[in-house]
Amino acid sequence: MKRNILVIGGTGKTGKRIVKLLNNLGHQVRVGSRKGNPAFDWHHPEGWSAAIKGMEALYISYQPDLAVSGALEAIEELVKVAKKSNVKKLVLLSGKGEREAQLCEQLVIHSGLDYTIVRANWFNQNFSENFLVEGILNGHVALPYAEAKIPFVDANDIAEVAVSALIDDKHNGEIYQLTGPEGLTFEEAVHMISKASGREIQFTGISVKAYVAAMRQKNVPEDFIWLIEYLFTEVLGNPDNSEITNDIEQVLSRKPIGFKEYVEKSVNNGVWNHASVSSH
Ligand SMILES: NC(=O)c1ccc[n+]([C@@H]2O[C@H](COP(=O)([O-])OP(=O)(O)OC[C@H]3O[C@@H](n4cnc5c(N)ncnc54)[C@H](OP(=O)(O)O)[C@@H]3O)[C@@H](O)[C@H]2O)c1
Repeated sequence: MKRNILVIGGTGKTGKRIVKLLNNLGHQVRVGSRKGNPAFDWHHPEGWSAAIKGMEALYISYQPDLAVSGALEAIEELVKVAKKSNVKKLVLLSGKGEREAQLCEQLVIHSGLDYTIVRANWFNQNFSENFLVEGILNGHVALPYAEAKIPFVDANDIAEVAVSALIDDKHNGEIYQLTGPEGLTFEEAVHMISKASGREIQFTGISVKAYVAAMRQKNVPEDFIWLIEYLFTEVLGNPDNSEITNDIEQVLSRKPIGFKEYVEKSVNNGVWNHASVSSH
């Protein structure tokens, strides 16, 4: 059965992949975006009813992160609007190891609607479509928690799991914890990118304090600095988050995409073929 599905964050790392997969399967997909028509903006709840009208299922990726202040209230309101609009199913993208995100998960779990929680570890795509790309292109990545083993997960795997959850009721009530197949340190990850792309990229392990100071020096907005500091400390500072799960294999009946495969694909797509950049 084909479904009407709103993908909130439908132009983002996971959302754009979900939109493509759902379109290929013939579902009616609405892209949730500030540029959409109707538009969906987390800062303008008065527009949510129009964006949700006629939808049977929602994929929810919150911006910038479920840990920030205001997220809980926004998810609470979204659940209310979804119920009023007769939505049947919610699929929430959450962050593994984020205590604040789990409070938002509880709102979805107790919404009375069908739900699936997709709790993901750090994405591979942070190196190619997010804040780590600048360091890669500039040939120097300096990060805290250099010794932490991180089971990076691929946004394509997250998207496939989310699509299964959106269209198949057998995933109702499940909390999936998604990780890649192996733990890598930032240094190991950067080394693999350097080797495969032929770019010289230096890695330096630094303290969280030094990392925060470097962001301030570049005039990175304070709320983004808070979030990055939180994510490093809360997620990477907790050894429990290096746990590797087999939930992707359980849902997709295949192994998760490894970091090496992601790097090879990204090199072939030319994502690191640019000159150095400055985003701030
Ligand atoms: N990166 C990670 O390693 C990681 C790990 C675990 C969980 N997560 C979670 O993943 C979520 C982000 O998902 P993603 O990485 O797929 O998205 P993303 O790449 O961060 O994409 C941003 C998306 O959010 C939309 N957006 C930005 N500001 C918005 C606003 N004010 N109102 C409505 N939409 C807005 C953008 O749409 P328009 O610009 O078109 O409006 C775009 O579709 C966050 O909740 C984060 O906590 C991330």
